[in-house]
Amino acid sequence: MIHLASSSVASKKITRRDTLCAFARAAATFPVLGLLNACGGFSMSHDRAFRQSGLRALAARRGWHFGAAAQSGQLDDPAFARSLAREVNALVPENELKWDALRPSPETFDFRGFEELATFADEHGMILRGHTLVWHESNPAWLESLLKSAPRADAEKILREHITRVTQATQTHIREWDVVNEAIDPRSSRKDGLRETLWLQALGDSYIALAFRAASEADSGLRLVYNDFGLERGDGYGEAKRKAALRLLENLRARGAPIHGLGLQSHLRVDRPLGGRAFTDFLARARCLGLEVSVTELDMRYGNLMGDAEDKDALAQDYLRAYLEQVQQSAPLKSLLTWGLSDRYSWLRQDDDAARGMLPLDVNLERVPMWETLREAWLV
Ligand code: XIL
Repeated sequence: MIHLASSSVASKKITRRDTLCAFARAAATFPVLGLLNACGGFSMSHDRAFRQSGLRALAARRGWHFGAAAQSGQLDDPAFARSLAREVNALVPENELKWDALRPSPETFDFRGFEELATFADEHGMILRGHTLVWHESNPAWLESLLKSAPRADAEKILREHITRVTQATQTHIREWDVVNEAIDPRSSRKDGLRETLWLQALGDSYIALAFRAASEADSGLRLVYNDFGLERGDGYGEAKRKAALRLLENLRARGAPIHGLGLQSHLRVDRPLGGRAFTDFLARARCLGLEVSVTELDMRYGNLMGDAEDKDALAQDYLRAYLEQVQQSAPLKSLLTWGLSDRYSWLRQDDDAARGMLPLDVNLERVPMWETLREAWLV
């Protein structure tokens, strides 16, 4: 069963012509539009006007952020880089801040990928989110083998040093971090629902509070977030995940751990029911703990949804509307990031081309109905 909002949606594809028309309308408002600078690039004022036409401008009007994950190598694609510059005022390095990218060896740190993204973000007036300091995936082999035999004190030292060094090296750009990612697994055999990870095995369940403390000690001005997926699901998995998440967040609060936000990854599958009341109650309780809720990795998949392409797309937009309504029931959402801006570079394409990610722009960088749904259901 699909949980749908009652409103129907106009799933009209936004064509190149629509985009050009929007551009032309903007040109009337901003006469400098269309003026290239002497080098054939965009002049500063042109760049500003160009940005006015993207989701970022609508978000910025309210002091909010619309963003996307991107990889540094993708910036070499000029058309894609221009789309990013137009649409987002927040960027999250998709992989560049994970342990396996940053830590080629126990002694070394490699920030080159991050720096490319940071330069781009600076040039285009974007903030950066940090992702992620502790995760059970994307770890270098040396870390995995070291933690298997490391005494507890050594494991703690490695974690602390990493968090201190990384948050401090990036602190002029990054003010908000996904400190711990995906620590809950309802399928684990533990009563508390915590995932059996390399860190849990090395340090016990206190590794989570420890990570938040280490980040705050490194820079007390950082906003620190717990990030996870599947919290919105209306099935047994979602229920178990919410229960374990609430328990974790309450424990962190009770132990005085510095935590400021809950990140909903939001990898949505349109053939799954949404949590509805159980989900909105969960979010209200998280907010009562003083946590700000944000959407950190939105994308959509049809899953096993049947029907022709147009019907499926209309259902997907209804689903997204319903989701945004539920997320915003007890407070507006001030930050929403998609996991990739365009299907051209969606991580979902790595697994199965047919199950492509649904993101605001398609492979040709054209706006698709999801772009319009975000605008209508979130920003206007
Ligand atoms: C994914 C990246 O998109 C891939 O390129 C990489 O190979 C694996 O990680 N949840 C997360 C992200 O928190 O870090 C994951 O990113 C996607 C799921």
